[in-house]
Amino acid sequence: MNNTVVITGTASGIGRATVEKFVAEGWNVVATVRKDADLEVHQHLDRVRTLLLDVDDESAAPGFAEQAIAQFGQVDVLVNNAGYYQMGPLEASTSDQIHRQFQTNVFGLIALTRAFLPHFRTRRTGVIVSLSSISAEQGYPFTSVYQASKAAVASLTEGLNIELAPFNASAKAVFPGSHNTRIFSKMDIAQDIPDDYQAALDAFFNTPQASYGSSPEVAAGVIYRAATDGQPQQVRYYAGPDSEIIPRAKQLLGPQWYWEEFRAANTTGGSVLWSSLNRTGDGTALEKNL
Ligand SMILES: NC(=O)c1ccc[n+]([C@@H]2O[C@H](COP(=O)([O-])OP(=O)(O)OC[C@H]3O[C@@H](n4cnc5c(N)ncnc54)[C@H](OP(=O)(O)O)[C@@H]3O)[C@@H](O)[C@H]2O)c1
Repeated sequence: MNNTVVITGTASGIGRATVEKFVAEGWNVVATVRKDADLEVHQHLDRVRTLLLDVDDESAAPGFAEQAIAQFGQVDVLVNNAGYYQMGPLEASTSDQIHRQFQTNVFGLIALTRAFLPHFRTRRTGVIVSLSSISAEQGYPFTSVYQASKAAVASLTEGLNIELAPFNASAKAVFPGSHNTRIFSKMDIAQDIPDDYQAALDAFFNTPQASYGSSPEVAAGVIYRAATDGQPQQVRYYAGPDSEIIPRAKQLLGPQWYWEEFRAANTTGGSVLWSSLNRTGDGTALEKNL
């Protein structure tokens, strides 16, 4: 029997590329979209069943898990990909924007993960791959709410990885650097941003790192590796050259020196050392709704 993966948020970007990657590797795929208009998005691919799911609806998770398992008889991998980017100074991000960011990126993801856990535990197999972000390890300005949600995903994944060890199942987190998807053209931007922030905002979004990314296939390849490498003890997977460099640079410089270099680059100006350590993605220009 072919293996089966469930992937959330597959109408575009990394989710869509991940559907294509798993299909190319011979897997059955249960893909989710949240709009009726996107139900046909994978119709050219064999072995893909596309279902509706808004991960914000926590009460829908158990029923969805049952429906997803029924598609091909079992599920081997869950990829928690659905998510979005709330951007802007914390001061100008509304309470509603902040709660919604956590509802989708954290609480929805937790509800869906919990819905699949009995299946993985009783079958004594299964891998849960959740999309974090390199921002969770970096500390970018104007990204604090998003990266806090992604740090929660990373931390949750580490605890879960150990909890699932007795059941031969595992949880892994993927940390993409910038990838050229719709995420930057659908940002939920803070409102009524005080003018005081404008110069720093402009500077941040004009760096090469904020202008170029990798193609979504890069992250899809890393998600596939995390799901299939048979290494339950590996939790963190970095996707894209701009992401891979960060844990290495932190190791080279140590956490405090690294932080001072990064902070200087975003305030007074980066050093030559910092410029030599930085990387962009594979050169794809990012489209943004700024
Ligand atoms: N691109 C990057 O640079 C980058 C970097 C680090 C991490 N990530 C993470 O990678 C994941 C995929 O993002 P992407 O870059 O591929 O962006 P994308 O093209 O915007 O795709 C995100 C997908 O998530 C779906 N989604 C959003 N909210 C949802 C909800 N409440 N319920 C169900 N689906 C929902 C979107 O559906 P709709 O099409 O209906 O909006 C879309 O299909 C996200 O978790 C993101 O945070 C991306």
